[in-house]
Amino acid sequence: VLSPQDKANVKAVWEHVKGHEEVYGAEALYRAFLCDPQTQTYFAGKDLSENSAFLHSHGKKVMCALTNAIAHIDDIDGCMSKLSDKHAHELMVDPGNFDILAHHILTVLAMFLSQLLTCANHRSVDKFLSCVKNVLTSKYR
Ligand code: HEM
Repeated sequence: VLSPQDKANVKAVWEHVKGHEEVYGAEALYRAFLCDPQTQTYFAGKDLSENSAFLHSHGKKVMCALTNAIAHIDDIDGCMSKLSDKHAHELMVDPGNFDILAHHILTVLAMFLSQLLTCANHRSVDKFLSCVKNVLTSKYR
């Protein structure tokens, strides 16, 4: 459960992510696909090479979904409900992959926003990404 302080920390970090969703998202996906190749299996036929158009467009979608979830941080369940259906029923992404992607998103925040990623902020963003994972994997049977 996110404390009021966690919510404030996540929002403070995300003020600096806004506007950079595409670049940060493309980098996080590139690293996930490179370091953890099993994540590639869900993206058959897509161009996953560095800075590909797909990495940019998909990275932007993923990070903008997080920006939206932070704008509705008291109702992450509600605002990600449709995405939760899609990941569980249509895409059937193994839940372990969410931890992998979360790790690479945090890495990218550390790369681009090192000063902001204090220990407390790191922990709060980590908790937030874990909440998102719980929502996106809640509809698995
Ligand atoms: C699609 C968000 C994690 C695999 C999407 C879309 C969004 C999204 C916004 C586009 C949905 C649409 O077009 O209707 C997220 C978020 C994640 C996450 C916020 C966690 C932070 C993952 C993981 C995987 C994955 C871990 C698998 C490794 C996919 C696939 C698609 C998709 C295969 C469809 C891509 C396409 O064909 O264009 N996701 N996702 N997602 N996601 Fe996720």
